[in-house]
Amino acid sequence: MKFNDILGTIGNTPVVRINKLAPAHVKLYVKVESFNPLGSVKDRLALGVIEAAEKSGALKPGQTVVEATSGNTGIGLAMVCAAKGYPLVLTMAESFSVERRKLMRFLGAKVVLTPAAERANGMVRKAEELALQNGWFQTRQFENDANPDMHSRTTALEIIKDFSDEPLNYWVTGFGTGGTLTGVGRVLRKQSPDTKIIVAEPEGAPMLTSGERQERRADHAATGSHPAWKPHPYQGWSPDFIPWVTNHAITEKLIDEVITTTGPEGMKCSMDLAQKEGIFVGISAGGTFAAALKVAQRAAEGSTILVMLPDTGERYLSTPLFADVPADMSPEEEAISLSTPGQHLPPKAAA
Ligand SMILES: Cc1ncc(COP(=O)(O)O)c(C=O)c1O
Repeated sequence: MKFNDILGTIGNTPVVRINKLAPAHVKLYVKVESFNPLGSVKDRLALGVIEAAEKSGALKPGQTVVEATSGNTGIGLAMVCAAKGYPLVLTMAESFSVERRKLMRFLGAKVVLTPAAERANGMVRKAEELALQNGWFQTRQFENDANPDMHSRTTALEIIKDFSDEPLNYWVTGFGTGGTLTGVGRVLRKQSPDTKIIVAEPEGAPMLTSGERQERRADHAATGSHPAWKPHPYQGWSPDFIPWVTNHAITEKLIDEVITTTGPEGMKCSMDLAQKEGIFVGISAGGTFAAALKVAQRAAEGSTILVMLPDTGERYLSTPLFADVPADMSPEEEAISLSTPGQHLPPKAAA
């Protein structure tokens, strides 16, 4: 398969059947967004917002791009800007994992850290200040229509095509900006109206569940975090406000149900996906999958469910997801290392 540049490899991610973790009465599938070149669904957004700005003339050749990001968007944008030749500055709360910052810098971006206490609101404010001061182009992932539009043109059509041979009863997603939710939701409502759209959010930050609206856009700044938001372990999931792009999904009635999941539930699912299905994804993917298992338990016999898995587990090595994974040998591994041939090893390896 030949491509003119790396950007041509974005999208067309696989839908994979879950065999061991799914209850027997349903067909459970996952859409594995870690197959994007930089390992997350945000590669789509990055290409979508840059191409739209090039087309409209809002982004000039060689102009610096600036964005607030908890990681995956920054990494995707760093790839797109590297391939297209735009300088990139990313603002990011210092609470996000160190490997994310390093990845962005490795890809040639500058990373400006903002205080952890100021949360997502703080990094968005910093990006706005820098854009204003320097005349930089701001991609505004949380409110840019090019974000959901890209998902309507790519993610949604891939799903429609992959389920052309069987009905899709449930589609389950989380939200970061809400680009996936709004973009795919719009197309499903029109082209697959019987598909129920389920949104997963952290139990500790139930903003949609609370029903309390506090949407945010740059010229409409909210002060402080949404009242229902509390810190949660799901990086990249549910920022501390309801983004403007997510707000479209609420006003356009694209959401049929919201399900909350706890951090431990999400981490267990992430590990189960790795160890029982060989599917290696991040914490929020585990959280979304945990919500889908709740849907599956009560779904009718023969129901088909598709779950979005937004990113790779490799982005979480320094987070609680890996906290219990030891670096040193366990007693069992020590025993294996000390075993003499035929003593502890399985017969085939010992022979
Ligand atoms: C790590 C991560 N990336 C991306 C997304 C989806 O992003 P968006 O809502 O911006 O399309 C999510 C949402 O669940 C997420 O958890």
